[in-house]
Amino acid sequence: MLYLIICTVKIYEGCTGLMKKYEQLAEMLRHQIDKKIFQPGEKLPSIRHLSEQCRVSISTVQEAFRLLEAAGDVAARPKSGFYVCSRQSPTPTLPAMPQYTTKPKVVNNWAQIRHALYRKNEMPGMVYLGMANPDVAAPTLKPLQRKISNLAHSAGVRMLHYDHLFGCMELRQQIAKIAVDAGCGLSPDEIMITNGCMEGVSSSLRALTEPGDTVVVDSPCFYGSLQAIEARGLKALEIPTDPQIGISLEALELALDQWQVKACLLTPTINNPLGYTMPDERKRALLVLLRRYDIPLIEDDIYGDLSYETPRPRAIKSFDTEGRVILCSSFSKSLAPGLRIGWVAPGRYQHDVMHMKYVSSMSTSTLPQLAIAEFIGSGGYDRHIRKMRSNYRRGRDLMLEWIERYFPSGTRVTCPNGGYLLWLELPEVIDTENLSDLAVERGVGIAFGNLFTATDKYRNSIRLSYANTPHEKIEAAMQVLGELVSEQL
Ligand SMILES: Cc1ncc(COP(=O)(O)O)c(C=O)c1O
Repeated sequence: MLYLIICTVKIYEGCTGLMKKYEQLAEMLRHQIDKKIFQPGEKLPSIRHLSEQCRVSISTVQEAFRLLEAAGDVAARPKSGFYVCSRQSPTPTLPAMPQYTTKPKVVNNWAQIRHALYRKNEMPGMVYLGMANPDVAAPTLKPLQRKISNLAHSAGVRMLHYDHLFGCMELRQQIAKIAVDAGCGLSPDEIMITNGCMEGVSSSLRALTEPGDTVVVDSPCFYGSLQAIEARGLKALEIPTDPQIGISLEALELALDQWQVKACLLTPTINNPLGYTMPDERKRALLVLLRRYDIPLIEDDIYGDLSYETPRPRAIKSFDTEGRVILCSSFSKSLAPGLRIGWVAPGRYQHDVMHMKYVSSMSTSTLPQLAIAEFIGSGGYDRHIRKMRSNYRRGRDLMLEWIERYFPSGTRVTCPNGGYLLWLELPEVIDTENLSDLAVERGVGIAFGNLFTATDKYRNSIRLSYANTPHEKIEAAMQVLGELVSEQL
């Protein structure tokens, strides 16, 4: 059998040398389940059998099965063994794509956003399904915390100086290695460390535009990006976006014919809030289109490493041969937002973007940069990401089950292949800003749809996050939300 052959090769090609033996074995079995070598419902080889074939100990195989079981890939049957779980992706009814492009619009919703963000700090005990926070309590982050405290004691005055304007070399080297997974061959000299992804995006916008200019965005669009547009006095041109394959290239082309556009700002891989990933051929086609109109792309890739698939999808930057794409990302979603460490690879706009980063914050704090560099170098990042991917995928499947159970029929929802955000389109009569106030009174925070547009086209939509709250609490909150929606009908 094929698995026997692969077992003797020992490390299958998707595994890194930094993985423990049981992790390698689990990854190899998962790979074979993905490839349907083991079908849903099929019994896996016994522990003893695998131990002999793969020349590893019984406890290594048991640990590997434990990992697969925790991720929902296999299930134990008493006195029988381990069986492959059904892996069929759920197929919910997806939200509809807006049918028209609204003309370039001044963004003016800081008051709404401020209200939503301030509320976050006011309500102890609330279940926050509205904030896009990762699971920062994960045990796989503990080694990072230890590195931070060790470095605080051992690294001396280096922590107290400004480091290189581009950020610490150790971290830029590690980021260059991670970027290979996204298909990007970047040298450390092409990477600048920023205070989160937000600083990369806003510095890039300021480098590329003057107040009054128009910027293309996908729609719905992350409200932080809209705020960067508002703060610079720009107009947003919101292009209809499909919840599975992303921005409509046809609508974009028509819009570019009609309006003068200075830049395009997109999150094409594991989008916030829709969760889509543009297929590679559409990513390439987008780049061709932007080249034709000579428009730069700011590519926000902050969720890219949280793809449930390995290898993760390619960044558009990986197709860029002329420095047109400014790639922005951070560790805010993959590790922890409080670290405030991001990066930008600005291509041909490097000097201008650096100028804007310089006047924004000069440099970035040294301690978290060095700690993250060590964490990546020791294999901790890899380990953490793999764990989070399978946890978040399980979270997605549970959320979809709860939506089906607790929400009224007519609810539409996305089915992302990475990250931890869902976008729901509720029956048309529901006003989700009002729903948000009612939900807060019942101890549940949500992000209402119109935060994600400069218009009011998402009045009956919400975004929910499922990463950083225990599942029992989320289920109770989903039941409350479902009741509130039903009451409004
Ligand atoms: C798409 C997107 N870009 C940027 C950011 C901001 O990232 P950071 O916290 O690294 O500044 C977020 C945070 O929610 C986001 O979702």
